[in-house]
Amino acid sequence: MGEQGAGRPRVGIVVGSRSDLPTMEKAQAVLAGLGIESEVRVISAHRAPALLTEYAAAAAGRGLEVLIAAAGLAAHLPGVLAAQTTLPVVGVPMSGQLLGGLDALLSIVQMPPGVPVATVGIGNAENAALLAAQVIALSDPAVRERFVADRAARTRKILDDPTNR
Ligand code: RP5
Repeated sequence: MGEQGAGRPRVGIVVGSRSDLPTMEKAQAVLAGLGIESEVRVISAHRAPALLTEYAAAAAGRGLEVLIAAAGLAAHLPGVLAAQTTLPVVGVPMSGQLLGGLDALLSIVQMPPGVPVATVGIGNAENAALLAAQVIALSDPAVRERFVADRAARTRKILDDPTNR
């Protein structure tokens, strides 16, 4: 993972730990499939708070349009990021070993009014990427076209399944 493609990254994927990377690789792959450049950073809200503040403060100015933040356990990363940027933040709860990710899900989804985080299902990196793509598609017709084609391909896959005849 890391910088994807040669262009300017439009989506920043931030994870709380290297242990989150295998799950979040799917987000970068889905974005790449839709022709959207992304970058990946490992920045823990607890272990490197100053670096997270720096990243959040610079994100919009660097041309990022949507942030995806993934964390497990006491998952403060998406919320702390959202508190320090006006970019939309999509939160991905990571499945922990003790509580199966319910801890992270509640931590991420229960933001106070005024600072939203668009929370997807536990470990659902794919939906985080698709949601980020939908935001970008609002102002980018080429991305919108690719998103519509991707959605149609997903539907076709179901319709073409011989078990559905
Ligand atoms: C969170 O704690 C990370 O996002 C990760 O999901 C979890 C465990 O982190 P490690 O102990 O594997 O670094 O901060």
